Amino acid sequence: MNLDKVFENNKNWIKDKLALSNDYFEELGKGQTPELLYIGCSDSRVTAEELMGAKPGEVFVHRNIANMVISIDLNAMSVVNYAVDHLKVQHVIVCGHYECGGVKAAMQSADLGILNPWLRNIRDVYRIHSKELNEIKDEAKKYNRLVELNVQEQCVNLIKTAAVQKASRERGLKVHGWVFDIHTGNLIDLKIDFDSILKNIMEIYHLD
Ligand code: CO
Repeated sequence: MNLDKVFENNKNWIKDKLALSNDYFEELGKGQTPELLYIGCSDSRVTAEELMGAKPGEVFVHRNIANMVISIDLNAMSVVNYAVDHLKVQHVIVCGHYECGGVKAAMQSADLGILNPWLRNIRDVYRIHSKELNEIKDEAKKYNRLVELNVQEQCVNLIKTAAVQKASRERGLKVHGWVFDIHTGNLIDLKIDFDSILKNIMEIYHLD
């Protein structure tokens, strides 16, 4: 992508927004009250706001390789805390996608350097669900299922946080697991059972 074109696009985007409303940017400058926190993959094909039709101000976004929620990742944990405790989002979404390079890389027997500890978290998801996954003979279907199970486990990781537990009890915050089907453009709700996951893991992970 030509960088001059980026700035030209930006000028056109400003024009479009001002055509909608003269004080568009004045309003944007006043602050944000998004209702959603979206945690997705950094993959260039999975554009968070565009695929949801979301406008500036509507979604707080965090993206990393393979949409991971890792308890010692200061970046992701800061995003979750800020969005849940301060912005008071009502929904937290983990969105994975089929053909995820991160998930595929995690299943290769290769030393990927600094990516090893990151991708190990996906191998852990495989280990937890190895019985189900090993029964899937079709490789593509197995990757797709691992993408879904990874989303589910990252939702569980969110529910382990004090911020989510507290907001769920105090104001009914919910966590959702979605997958973007890159072959059709469809957003699929995995319909994870937030209430029963919360109930089940509280025995061990109850913080607040
Ligand atoms: Co990906």
